[in-house]
Amino acid sequence: MEKNKEIVLSGIRPTGFLHLGNYFGALKNWARMQYEYECYFFIADWHSLTTHADTSELSLITRRLVAELIGGGLDPEKCTIYAQSDIPEIPELYLYLNMLAYKGELEKTVTFKEKARRQPDNINAGLLTYPVLQAADILIHRCHYVPVGKDQEQHIEMTRNFAERFNHRYGDVFPVPKAFSYGKDLVKILSLDGSGKMSKSEQQMNTVYLNDDDELIRKKIMKARTDQGPTEPNSTKPEYIQGLFTLLGLVSSQEVLTKFENDFNLCQIRYGDMKKQLADDLIRFIAPIRNKAAVLQNDPAEIDRILTMGAEKARKSAESTLVEVRKALGFRHL
Ligand code: ADP
Ligand code: TRP
Repeated sequence: MEKNKEIVLSGIRPTGFLHLGNYFGALKNWARMQYEYECYFFIADWHSLTTHADTSELSLITRRLVAELIGGGLDPEKCTIYAQSDIPEIPELYLYLNMLAYKGELEKTVTFKEKARRQPDNINAGLLTYPVLQAADILIHRCHYVPVGKDQEQHIEMTRNFAERFNHRYGDVFPVPKAFSYGKDLVKILSLDGSGKMSKSEQQMNTVYLNDDDELIRKKIMKARTDQGPTEPNSTKPEYIQGLFTLLGLVSSQEVLTKFENDFNLCQIRYGDMKKQLADDLIRFIAPIRNKAAVLQNDPAEIDRILTMGAEKARKSAESTLVEVRKALGFRHL
């Protein structure tokens, strides 16, 4: 690995199959950044315990995710890929950061409130301190940029606050990291019914997974919510229509996008045609990713090798940060 490159880190929870939101919100940027930065990408298996207590499939999903990430463009020789639970240095940093995080700010976090609403019988302390563990993930490599989707913006803002508090109180150990996207805005891919974002745990027919076969992709897109079309020229698009245009902009040609934009503005849009085109382009886009992931999934020894190599590199970086952290805190008793 080259010296003096800025450091990038991001993670994803092993709670299901990867979908278009994960790809365009995160993985696409990761795949490009690995050539420009020193990159760490990891499977946040500890984080998944906050909402998914059943661990019987955790290892399986973690390993499948590694295959999907590589199918989607990560190169394990260019970036460091590991499982969070293989890095015991993270919980020590998490402990220190917990003393710098206040109950009030944790309770105000949007993701906490949302998850607490969804699982009222399991509002565990891990859920409350989720952003602190995430900050430990990020700060353990003294990272500069965190490529994530729009939904993670607040967590990165909190990480910046914890880093600044630590530096202010104990001395400058951490760079203050920033959320990152190559486009000018962080991306949000909407669910196909237009209600909220595509998500691993949302309604399966409204989310397109990188593992879906051609037929299923077509079926999902053709069932996506539309309406009669606009009646006034140059109308504002409803969110569910904008969501389809966003996908078209990501996987179709500029020509195709312009054609349907013009049709919409002239009130001549035929959503059936647009969805057919979108399905064709999505199928062309997803098939090679799915196929590459499938090949790797059939090679468990290679996944072992990737995770072992990744954990070794990540622990080296994590250990050297912890040395500085302990020094700053004054924990050098032995
Ligand atoms: P999910 O919400 O599906 O469980 P994660 O929370 O594990 O996915 O998110 C992993 C990455 O994918 C994060 O960087 C997140 O910002 C991004 N992401 C997830 N869903 C979307 C979406 N619908 N649009 C844009 N980015 C997304
Ligand atoms: N909270 C992130 C999500 O739900 C996953 C995650 C855990 C993460 N630790 C991280 C993302 C560190 C970026 C950096 O998507």
